[in-house]
Amino acid sequence: MNHSRKGLFPAHFKFGAATSAYQIEGATRVDGRGASIWDEFCGGKGRIRGGDSGDRACDHYFRYRQDVGLMRRLGLQSYRFSISWPRVVPNGSGALKRAGLDFYKRLLDELLAADITPFVTLFHWDMPAALMQKYGGFLDRRAAEDFADYVEVVVRALGDRVNHWITINDPFEHAFFGYATGVHAPGLRRPWSYMSVMHHQLLAHGMAVERIRNENPRAQVGIALCLTPIHPSPEGNAQKNWAASVAANEFVNFVQLDPLMRGCYPEDLCRRLRWFMPSRANDDLRRIQAPLDFIGINTYQREHARYARWVPFLKSWNTRGGAIAESEFTRDGVQYTSMGWEVYPQALSEVLSWLRRGYDNPPVYITENGAAFDDALIDGAVHDPKRIAYIAAHLIEVQQALAEGSDVRGYFVWSLLDNFEWAAGYSKRFGIVHVDYETQVRTIKSSGHWYAKQIRSHVAAHEHQETLDVS
Ligand code: FCB
Repeated sequence: MNHSRKGLFPAHFKFGAATSAYQIEGATRVDGRGASIWDEFCGGKGRIRGGDSGDRACDHYFRYRQDVGLMRRLGLQSYRFSISWPRVVPNGSGALKRAGLDFYKRLLDELLAADITPFVTLFHWDMPAALMQKYGGFLDRRAAEDFADYVEVVVRALGDRVNHWITINDPFEHAFFGYATGVHAPGLRRPWSYMSVMHHQLLAHGMAVERIRNENPRAQVGIALCLTPIHPSPEGNAQKNWAASVAANEFVNFVQLDPLMRGCYPEDLCRRLRWFMPSRANDDLRRIQAPLDFIGINTYQREHARYARWVPFLKSWNTRGGAIAESEFTRDGVQYTSMGWEVYPQALSEVLSWLRRGYDNPPVYITENGAAFDDALIDGAVHDPKRIAYIAAHLIEVQQALAEGSDVRGYFVWSLLDNFEWAAGYSKRFGIVHVDYETQVRTIKSSGHWYAKQIRSHVAAHEHQETLDVS
């Protein structure tokens, strides 16, 4: 099979969609679920656009059957969702709630009956509030131990239904937005805690990998990392901006990849942040480097770093820090999404080339990629050509990377449904399915129909191939 042929991905390549628990489930006070840091954070004034919260979200907890029906209509081959830690262990450690686990069992049974492969994320930022109160969440290494215990419970209960596990989603954003700048839960503004929170999440990941493998030696285990190429800003001093971009890439990207894949933190970063490294960090690196079956990549855009005197790799870097655009726009012929993120599909092949060249070319899933645009529901339809163009352009980059030797095994569009977009609340729509939050009516957007067609032709191409092979 020549997968470089136009429009064709390898037979084993899976097309899916992704979501996360707090962003879609709702039902935050149902069946004994404990509070998460997001429930508490959303309660604070002025934190979430429109004063929104995930209390109801897409009501998926009650509508999961209908939602799996939608996935079936779209022909999804795989579905990535996350488990809410406080739904399963309301206090973060100790007693578990059967009802919470039962929900995920029912969801998984629906998925399996629809022949959709589940990819289950164990932590997508919804830390139990009890552990935040007890020791400050991932500020403390005890969070890694409690996380590993929770993971063991989940894998024991669901391991017969799930083979693909993703330990943690996007440790960078959780550490940076949650604990350093405070625009996400838990809302702390302690930039100096960034490295501790990052390190404890990576440790939690490493410990979780051990537990998953103990429970289920055949499991496929990975982590989902938000990787964003940061280029030097074209404005200002070129040489200084270049140095700033090198530092920023270490701070955002290689701070995750290096310990996971090489067992060390980037040297320059360690030097710069030496006062902020948690004690015992070096002793943990062996566990953090536990061999993985795949790396998940969440990539959306590229960013630019501009040198600034005091914090050369942080302050200078333009779109981070939680600034969210009002709406989509174009500037100098370049399209920006309604988050204000640059549409730059080459970001995906750049990140894949890092993994190919610098990290032994591991198997990869694109665990998130997609865009928010200013969608409108008109006469029962959402016409979203920009989202189609975005996804199509990124899939071409994936094909390009495959042709260059990357081992990409699947692609998950973010997101299946419009949902609670963290600090932006419901103001930003990433779904290939539109959600009317008042009525909870779902409408497949043009992009959803288009994506379904891509999947159908992918499947048909290989069915055809198999028939040929057989004859
Ligand atoms: C990712 C998050 C995901 C979603 C997208 C837009 O970084 O993992 O939950 O918010 O951004």
